[in-house]
Amino acid sequence: MTSRIHCSEDAQQIALRRLPKLISGFVEGGTGREVGVLNNTAAFDRIKLQARVLRKVDPRSTVQRFLGQEYSVPFGVAPMGMCNVVHPRADQFLAGMAKNHNIPLGLSTAASTAVEKMQAIAPDRVWFQLYLVPPIDHAMSLVDRAEAAGCKTLVLTVDVPQISRRIRDLRNGFEVDFKMGPRQFFDLATHPVYSLRMLWAGRPEPAHFPKTGSKFDRSASRALADWEFLQNLRDRWKGHLILKGVTSIPDALRIKDIGVDAIWVSNHGGRQLDSAPASIDILPDMRHALGPEYPLILDSGVRGGEDILKALVCGANFVMLGRPWLYAIGAEGESGLESLREALTFDLSAAMAQIGVTNISEVTKENLVSFSE
Ligand SMILES: Cc1cc2nc3c(=O)[nH]c(=O)nc-3n(C[C@H](O)[C@H](O)[C@H](O)COP(=O)(O)O)c2cc1C
Repeated sequence: MTSRIHCSEDAQQIALRRLPKLISGFVEGGTGREVGVLNNTAAFDRIKLQARVLRKVDPRSTVQRFLGQEYSVPFGVAPMGMCNVVHPRADQFLAGMAKNHNIPLGLSTAASTAVEKMQAIAPDRVWFQLYLVPPIDHAMSLVDRAEAAGCKTLVLTVDVPQISRRIRDLRNGFEVDFKMGPRQFFDLATHPVYSLRMLWAGRPEPAHFPKTGSKFDRSASRALADWEFLQNLRDRWKGHLILKGVTSIPDALRIKDIGVDAIWVSNHGGRQLDSAPASIDILPDMRHALGPEYPLILDSGVRGGEDILKALVCGANFVMLGRPWLYAIGAEGESGLESLREALTFDLSAAMAQIGVTNISEVTKENLVSFSE
């Protein structure tokens, strides 16, 4: 079947039709009035790239080295909890893409597929993402588990000291301990393909939590992560350590001083603080403050190949996307994911040709319109 996904907006539109509101709202929604979600994409649209002409732009390479590893593209999958509510095999599809196309994959603490399984599918591509949810012993056992599974990169997410209210989830009745009421029944009944598939596969369960005892509590405070904890984690974790969800320059400078290997500039896709500035707007100052060599990742609002290039131009070394991958899976399953990956890669490479560069290391802030000679 020919894919109808030519860009992430196609994936979003199709997914919104094929998924129950309960699920599409969980993926698409943000906190508050969702001004932050809109602002994240609008901020990319305000950035303009300078086209250059008459340069030799063939062949081009999208290969990027990051934290000592080579990836085929400078973009990857941001960690997302409960991906398997979109499709029972969503995690596996993502891991398959990570392996087949050499792309890094963030695996959430709240994932429905265990780190051991994901790492077996995509060795050396899985970055385990840690939320410090209580009890702390259990959270630390996840760090050991990720290490034993062979993960070389740990991502500590620090922008969820308290999970914010997502109004759509409240309206639609999206809860981890799912309860079926008349609204949810109607929603699921009017999406029979989705509902039968999920019924057949069984309800996805959090893979990194026992079913009893320290079971996953989505609303639990994650404020246990503080500066002292970070120092301890740095001393304990010998692999690469990345801090995700940083938007303040003073925080970033202190994190760098502690010896964290990379900072992930993110406002959690507008899901935590509605009035947070767009991460892409913060990035140039962050790059300036941390110096030209310090590894920086960016996410929140990246929707196309040109956005990826804009993030690189503004100072990112690596760029992550969240929702678009889930939209693609919700729209067309594994083949939808492949269509989106192809579109992003093609558009990134084509945009590189437009600005006259042949590899990622040539991308600089000189490629912005405002910096052109
Ligand atoms: C459905 C969903 C679940 C998420 N779960 C997590 C999570 O478990 N851990 C985490 O660090 N970030 C999580 N995030 C945030 C993403 O990692 C990422 O920061 C955000 O989606 C980027 O914005 P974008 O969706 O506009 O690309 C989640 C995002 C979504 C959409």
